[in-house]
Amino acid sequence: MTSQHIGIIGAGQMGQGIAEVFWRAGHTIYLFDADPFRLDQAYQNLIERLERAIDKGTESADEWEHFLDRLVVCIRLSGMASCTFVIEAIVEDIDVKAKLFSDLGTVVDAPCIIATNTSSLSVSDLAAHVKAPERFLGVHFFNPAYHMPLVEVIPHTQTDTAVSDRAHALLTEVGKTAIVCSDSPGFIVNRLLLPMINQAALLCQNGVATAADIDTTMKLGANFPMGPLALADLIGLDTCVLILNSLAHACDNTTYKPADILLNYVKDGKLGVKSKAGFFNYQ
Ligand code: NAI
Repeated sequence: MTSQHIGIIGAGQMGQGIAEVFWRAGHTIYLFDADPFRLDQAYQNLIERLERAIDKGTESADEWEHFLDRLVVCIRLSGMASCTFVIEAIVEDIDVKAKLFSDLGTVVDAPCIIATNTSSLSVSDLAAHVKAPERFLGVHFFNPAYHMPLVEVIPHTQTDTAVSDRAHALLTEVGKTAIVCSDSPGFIVNRLLLPMINQAALLCQNGVATAADIDTTMKLGANFPMGPLALADLIGLDTCVLILNSLAHACDNTTYKPADILLNYVKDGKLGVKSKAGFFNYQ
């Protein structure tokens, strides 16, 4: 495998996990976040995860220096200039993403591929803000990105076939199973998953059962490895609300309207695992 320069923009939960995927596979990572604190935290987390992998024997301590050489923290977007593949994993807001893509157009050029990890926004709508839409597509990882094997690859109508093929090959090389799907609201996983999470939240809101019992029911009755409400906490309740709002808008269907209990948790800062509280506590 040829080592590439991979840019990751957004060093939150997904950006960190995606960075780890490519870093541990031997690529050089250029990591940028608008918030220097998040960037610093992400660097520390990646180093801690590497130390744990070395302790467990899944990475060699002899590679330590090489790992450090291959993790570049960028304090400016211009740090991405040498990248051949850039993945955007910033906040799920079309205006913020649009501004970033327009800025990125002055930093990278052919043959660099630009990919978005959006959960629910239209890849075609985002492509309208990219300088070279033929080199743009969606690559949708799942949380936690290092461990989840699936990536949805979402070309839009103008994406070059060679670009989709390059993205598919790279993801396969780093050990992911890449499934190509067209640019449709929520793609495949979220189109099926988020309505279920929303219904589970409504059951909890209406007092039909406790959050713990709803999750146990789906684990024991539907053979789910984890319950829908624990999964919502892992995704982030704020992210769930954003995805549901996008689906409600794109599909013009109130089934996707976020349950009040989700909206209230988010209002109270209970975002799930990342804030240590949501449907469950993580202290
Ligand atoms: P997060 O809130 O953990 O991280 C987002 C990061 O983006 C923050 O560190 C923030 O400082 C940074 N950021 C915001 N605006 C920026 C800008 N203009 N330039 C650079 N950095 C900026 O969010 P998370 O969960 O990592 O989600 C990121 C993206 O991944 C979203 O599009 C989300 O829909 C998508 N996604 C999320 C999944 C999840 O389970 N949380 C799963 C798959 C995709």
